[in-house]
Amino acid sequence: MIKKNYPLVIAIDGPAGSGKGTVAQKIATKLNYHYLDSGAIYRVIAYAAKKENIKSESISTLIDLVADSKIKFKENNIWLNGNEVTNLIRTESISKLASKIAIHSKLRASILEYQRSFCKMPGLVAEGRDMTSVVFPNAHLKIYLNASVSERAKRRYKQLILKGYDVNLCDLTQEIDKRDSRDKEREVSPLIIVKEAYVLETDDLNENQTVDKILSLFKELQKGLITQNYQEK
Ligand code: C5P
Repeated sequence: MIKKNYPLVIAIDGPAGSGKGTVAQKIATKLNYHYLDSGAIYRVIAYAAKKENIKSESISTLIDLVADSKIKFKENNIWLNGNEVTNLIRTESISKLASKIAIHSKLRASILEYQRSFCKMPGLVAEGRDMTSVVFPNAHLKIYLNASVSERAKRRYKQLILKGYDVNLCDLTQEIDKRDSRDKEREVSPLIIVKEAYVLETDDLNENQTVDKILSLFKELQKGLITQNYQEK
């Protein structure tokens, strides 16, 4: 049985459009846990870099930019240096730039502690590409959410159309495919399926079914019915 005198961590990784954002947020709300959208941090840095005309390969300038930037998350909204950027960071050009700057090991190292600072009582649901492998390697439950490229492109298409963006499904599919390759093939913290992860294929699952599945795994884990990477500190 897991003791609860320190925060419990559910780490969820997966490719773009696998639904991990909505799913992780719903789980955090149901459990009353903290929530970390690590992709949003890369997006905010990409947004700031774009505004300052900093190229994705200018690593030392990017590191200075990160050091000078104040990122704040509050109630599902995100601020950069006091300005709300919640929707501004969700465009396709920022998605692409975020995955280009995310290849730099120094940049990733510079935000590691910040990401870990989200781990507070009673627990955390963290989602991204390296939550299960690098940021929270001792997470109590590790999930890899997957879905086919075509399904993920369709989901992203619906989301963007609802937000009023003019997008093309074919272009989106290609962009997601390219982003998958960049995220999976980079040298530092690539998106991988760690050996302890439960892999959930979500093509035929809706968000609520995925949430229920993860919550039931978490309950079993808490009851000691299954074990994962649990380590008592
Ligand atoms: O999850 P989201 O699509 O918002 O992430 C945007 C980009 O940020 C990803 O394509 C990936 O390159 C990068 N990222 C990362 N590591 C994370 C989260 C996101 O490299 N933990």
